[in-house]
Amino acid sequence: MVQRPVLWAAGEKRVLNLEIDGRQFTAQPGQTVLDVARAAGILIPTLCHHPDLSPIGSCRLCVVEERRLGKTSAACKLIAVEGMVIRTSTPELKRDRRFTLKMLLAGYVHDPATDQEHNELLHWAREYGAHADFTPAARFPNDSDPSPVLRVNLNQCILCLRCVRACAQVQGRFVWHLAEHGHATHIKPGVGTTMQDARCESCGACAAYCPTGALADRHSLGRGPPDRLVTTTCAYCGVGCQFDLNVEQGRVVRVTSNPAAPVNGMSLCVKGRYGHEYLHHPDRLLRPRVRQAHLSGSRASSPQAAKASPWVEVDWQVALDLVARRLADIRRQSGPDAIGLLASAKCTNEENYLMQKLARQVIGTNNIDHCARLCHSSTVAGLTMSYGSGAMSNSMDDVSQQAAAMFVIGSNTTEQHPVFGTMIRQAVIERGMKLIVADPRRIDLVDFATLHIRQKPGTDVALINGLAHLILANNWHDEGFIAERCEGFEAFASSLDRYTPQFVAQITGVPPEHLADVAEILGTNHPLAVVWAMGITQHTTGVMNVLALANLQMLLGNMGQPGGGVNPLRGQNNVQGACDMGALPNVLPGYQPVSSPDVVAFQSAWAVNFSDAAPSQPLFGTTPGLTVTEMIDAGARGTIRGLYILGEDPAMTEPDSNHVRAALAATEFVVLQEILPSETADYADVLLPGAAFAEKSGTFTNTERRVQLVRQAIDPPGEARQDWQTTAELAKKICSALEVTPAGHHASWDYESPAAIMREVAALTPSYAGVSHQRLERGERLQWPVPSASHPGTPILHVDRFTRGLGKFHVVEHLPPHELPNDEYPLVLTTGRVLYHWHGGELSRRSPTLLAQCPQPQVEISPEDARRLGLSVGSQVLVKSRRGEMLALADITDRVAAGTIFGNFHFPGPGNVNNLTIRALDPVAKIPEYKVCAVRLERATGQIQIS
Ligand code: SF4
Ligand code: SF4
Ligand code: FES
Repeated sequence: MVQRPVLWAAGEKRVLNLEIDGRQFTAQPGQTVLDVARAAGILIPTLCHHPDLSPIGSCRLCVVEERRLGKTSAACKLIAVEGMVIRTSTPELKRDRRFTLKMLLAGYVHDPATDQEHNELLHWAREYGAHADFTPAARFPNDSDPSPVLRVNLNQCILCLRCVRACAQVQGRFVWHLAEHGHATHIKPGVGTTMQDARCESCGACAAYCPTGALADRHSLGRGPPDRLVTTTCAYCGVGCQFDLNVEQGRVVRVTSNPAAPVNGMSLCVKGRYGHEYLHHPDRLLRPRVRQAHLSGSRASSPQAAKASPWVEVDWQVALDLVARRLADIRRQSGPDAIGLLASAKCTNEENYLMQKLARQVIGTNNIDHCARLCHSSTVAGLTMSYGSGAMSNSMDDVSQQAAAMFVIGSNTTEQHPVFGTMIRQAVIERGMKLIVADPRRIDLVDFATLHIRQKPGTDVALINGLAHLILANNWHDEGFIAERCEGFEAFASSLDRYTPQFVAQITGVPPEHLADVAEILGTNHPLAVVWAMGITQHTTGVMNVLALANLQMLLGNMGQPGGGVNPLRGQNNVQGACDMGALPNVLPGYQPVSSPDVVAFQSAWAVNFSDAAPSQPLFGTTPGLTVTEMIDAGARGTIRGLYILGEDPAMTEPDSNHVRAALAATEFVVLQEILPSETADYADVLLPGAAFAEKSGTFTNTERRVQLVRQAIDPPGEARQDWQTTAELAKKICSALEVTPAGHHASWDYESPAAIMREVAALTPSYAGVSHQRLERGERLQWPVPSASHPGTPILHVDRFTRGLGKFHVVEHLPPHELPNDEYPLVLTTGRVLYHWHGGELSRRSPTLLAQCPQPQVEISPEDARRLGLSVGSQVLVKSRRGEMLALADITDRVAAGTIFGNFHFPGPGNVNNLTIRALDPVAKIPEYKVCAVRLERATGQIQIS
């Protein structure tokens, strides 16, 4: 991150020798004396220095003596040179440091409300016995900025500029600057008068780096040290940041950075650092609930009538007995495929493994799916067709540190995967990486881009083919790579003939000269990393979009090497892991197809004896089961009679919500295991209280295939249980109701811990064979495939060969979106997330700090459309599609082009953008086309309600 000067010319000696405090050391070129001393365990005090930030040498606390030159220097800036003789702890140095501290204390007004434990200034003052000669007067208000997350008290500021550098160098945001001169010098937001004026993202990085408490987390002011710190993994997005939960009297009171976090180091986004408040929200489900209609002994007249009856709190035995009995009855009466299960990308790998095992082993169906269907099923399908593996090929630090250029298409990275967004900004700022952004919206990353192209929504295949056409025409393709490692090139190359810049410009709206500029950057910068997210996948052409990007990276020879690859960013924290665990209707754990002869391994490992079936009968079929969207429809038709949902909220997140709500209401028996009463709870017959990430243990797998531990910090509230315990107990009860007895090696449901479940996963899943909780506890960093207990993991896929052998070029042609604007619905609606919320908003809307920053559903409208419709910022608007309506506030912005509006999907009820979206599906991946549908806008009156 920080660039060090290299003092050695080619061919010169690469290691130098120096003496520190009478001991001999070697140093690498560019290392500072502080680096060498710290590596040797020699303590030199610092304040303005931080290893993540460029050194400025301003505080002088780290002074050391250079014996040969007879002078003192700041060790944090002093580059080690051959023969140097350093003393770090002479009486003179101690005196100098004491004086430095005394001068700093002379301008420092202590506030006992701030974190004493991490106050580095006070720590060193105590160590050196330094005191101010007088109590300084406050020169600033002690809360000078209205930031919702930070308390700013410049009376505690020592002008070390760690905040300024952290914001610029780590966060890439440039909120803080220096103002005034001399005694009046102070830090201030660079634009406007407040941090928010300066586009602060409330990540809290400046406070995390501040050594004095001048910048401090507002919500933890006045708290003493916590009872304990528990390192765990974030439960919002797929970046997989780790941090320390600060636990006090059984409650999570704060999140602090853990510099050893593998992905993120000190960095966190606003959701990771401040979005934990939902853990203790009064809405948390504390006891199982059953609809009264199911307790009365007589069946309700209809599913709708049962769901309309009031909730009754019951104990676990009553709830689980009812669920087991009803699911067993449905299986006996209508067969296994009358039951569907939705696993959860919010839950652990171990819990997802159990959900699909329950579906296949006990129920006997492949009807198991989860929200990956809605975000990256097209990625998994497309990349499997091209390369044989559907996952991100490289790592986030690898591409952000080594890519010569990056092509970000359909990913609003700084809002959806914020910490990876900061890595991309750093790559541009620190080492000049070329960044191409292709997005219909002017997203924040555009500020850092070499070029931004604004293709019309739903025209990605034409755009990518057009770029490939130009790359071929200019001979920028990698002939050697194509010849040695790929197949199907000729047909692909011929298919590009018609994608001339003029033809592509007509479809995409991107001028030919911009296409040429982008193609040149992609074609002449190596390695190039391609990054995408739901802007690519959530289309009826989602799989073709992915195939087109896979073609592009083979064409350019960017696969299997550092800084390159295909990098789909998985949305939810553990959507990668839920897919890996086989919570999909077509594959078992490790993506072993249900149709493959290899599944006999599962059939035998999970073998059970049914009292009413021949022992040789397979547990589950070889035909893929239903997807989540298909299960919802089947519920309405009555072909799915029972639905067991773990931690998913289809009433909120599926497209065309009105249809989904009607279908869930008509589904005979719906069981929902959740931590909060989501929108789907209205349609449930039984509610089972689950545990949030801080209340459970297990593992999550992040977007770059990194398996990381989730550690329990607090107990689940009330009678809520960890989800693996509930699923295992339910499985045992269904087995008992069906008179099933375990027979195979891994047929039992008696697990003593998530670690034991992971041992079973490893035994049956080649790509996880070497993963264990023990290795992760030892600090081993494992990215799958990890084929054995001694294998170090695989940071880059497809290095010497593709998973399928040869990479396969596919011919893909542009097809228009399913629903285009017309006179009645003249605008294109595209949907996505905002920084301060997550998915259906179930968690982020219950975190007051996050909700305060984005309290209302909003739609972005271009200034041209706003003028035409007479709308201004804050106008209430009614958005209408053929399927429903959405009420929102207008945000007039050039982030969207004329003719397109953007709505986020975080608010329920009348503010739910999925009231508008369409159920048109990609024919292969069955992913809905959330990114394009036709709408119209009207002015609205009345209050917008948030529930
Ligand atoms: S606010 Fe904190 S980090 Fe920033 S200059 Fe002042 S003391 Fe340093
Ligand atoms: S970037 Fe993602 S994983 Fe990291 S703190 Fe933010 S939400 Fe959590
Ligand atoms: S820590 Fe080296 S000068 Fe401040």
